[in-house]
Amino acid sequence: MGKRVTVPSLRAMRASGERIVCVTAYDATFGALADLAGVDVVLVGDSVANTLLGLKETVGIGLPEMAHHVRATRAGVTNALLVADLPFGSYGASVAQAVESAVTLMKAGAEAVKLEGDHPEAVAACVRAGIPVMGHLGFTPQSVNLFGGHKVQGKGDAGDAIVKQAQRLNDSGAIGVVLELIPAALAERVTREVDLPTIGIGAGAGCNGQVQVLHDVLGLSERVYKHAKPYMTGRTAIVDALQAYADEVRSGSFPSEANAS
Ligand code: KIV
Repeated sequence: MGKRVTVPSLRAMRASGERIVCVTAYDATFGALADLAGVDVVLVGDSVANTLLGLKETVGIGLPEMAHHVRATRAGVTNALLVADLPFGSYGASVAQAVESAVTLMKAGAEAVKLEGDHPEAVAACVRAGIPVMGHLGFTPQSVNLFGGHKVQGKGDAGDAIVKQAQRLNDSGAIGVVLELIPAALAERVTREVDLPTIGIGAGAGCNGQVQVLHDVLGLSERVYKHAKPYMTGRTAIVDALQAYADEVRSGSFPSEANAS
């Protein structure tokens, strides 16, 4: 049985220089496998909209679906810190809405929630209500329509705004911040200037940790993104296994006597 990762562990890891490993998972099977692999943080990301539901953007997923995936993932994860994404439309209208939505995901089994963008009042209110919150800055996929596509954020002078947002998150009691698709030099600057643990995706190696989408790590995604690296050829392995099964059923070699009741 490995060691449990808690909210205070993240700051301790930053302080000791131990890199934080985070991966997404959306169900009990893969939550348990991530846990077995010794991953520190399992994120029930709203990327489930893309990976499992086949939606183009994360804007299409709501709070009940996220709670459903949090419950499933909770059933598999024992040691890693379980963080859940507040989906689009569940926290932007008011501070009260943010707290209520966060409570829903905590009741489903999350140990912290993550929200995108500059919402220091919502973060502070959740923290007052006993809910740890992780921020998410840079390219925030729920705002893809504002950005006009999946584009690197914070280039040049625009970087100053991201540093200020990270400082506001820090001051409002956030437990960490995901930095997505920003220049590596800016991610290093945020990591230097703010006490929060920074967790990068497409933000270079200078963060306190890294997060990747499960399907990208396992080679299940149809395309390989620049910010990602497949660690196995998942699509090929699965298609080969399914074809072998189909071939054996068709040839009559499965089930064999050993499989019979
Ligand atoms: O939903 C998600 O997978 C995420 C990561 C990309 C950080 O938010």
